[in-house]
Amino acid sequence: MDALKAIKERRSIRDFNEQGIPKGVIEDIIDCARLAPSANNIQPWEFVVITDRDLRKRIADITDYGKFIATSPVCIIIFCKETKYYLEDGSAATENILIAAKAYGLGTCWVAGDKKPYASQINELVNIPLKFKLVSLIALGYPKEEAKPHGKKALKEVIHWEKYQ
Ligand SMILES: Cc1cc2nc3c(=O)[nH]c(=O)nc-3n(C[C@H](O)[C@H](O)[C@H](O)COP(=O)(O)O)c2cc1C
Repeated sequence: MDALKAIKERRSIRDFNEQGIPKGVIEDIIDCARLAPSANNIQPWEFVVITDRDLRKRIADITDYGKFIATSPVCIIIFCKETKYYLEDGSAATENILIAAKAYGLGTCWVAGDKKPYASQINELVNIPLKFKLVSLIALGYPKEEAKPHGKKALKEVIHWEKYQ
């Protein structure tokens, strides 16, 4: 699948088949994440891949709007060292994961991490020092549900040539 198609057809998926994902595919998706741009090329990120069912259930229980992590075969957690632009950098890496996964026919949903009161609990659960900030958790798996209609603003509503108005 080409990049434009993957970007245009990606939608959040919250219902997954139980089918596992080959390790090589997961590694290639993380490879796409680590190639994301970052301020001063600091690459502040660390990616923790969770496949263990019990651990995913515990993660799901900690989140408020990420309960479906319990039933996604994989959860990728993105942490960043607390640099000035950690959130932008970690978000760029997160988006690369969503797009790369779509290109592999996989579904994803970005679950909030940064600013959430449960962030430090996720650090503790996966044994990563608190100097790493939780940016996002990504549920990953082969989609069971059909992607919902996108409900996006039209291009003409958001594009401005030369001036806002
Ligand atoms: C920063 C951020 C945090 C999000 N957190 C959650 C979340 O906690 N739970 C969830 O179900 N979806 C979460 N989402 C997914 C959004 O709900 C979703 O992207 C949005 O509704 C647009 O739908 P689409 O992804 O299908 O285009 C998050 C997305 C972003 C960018």
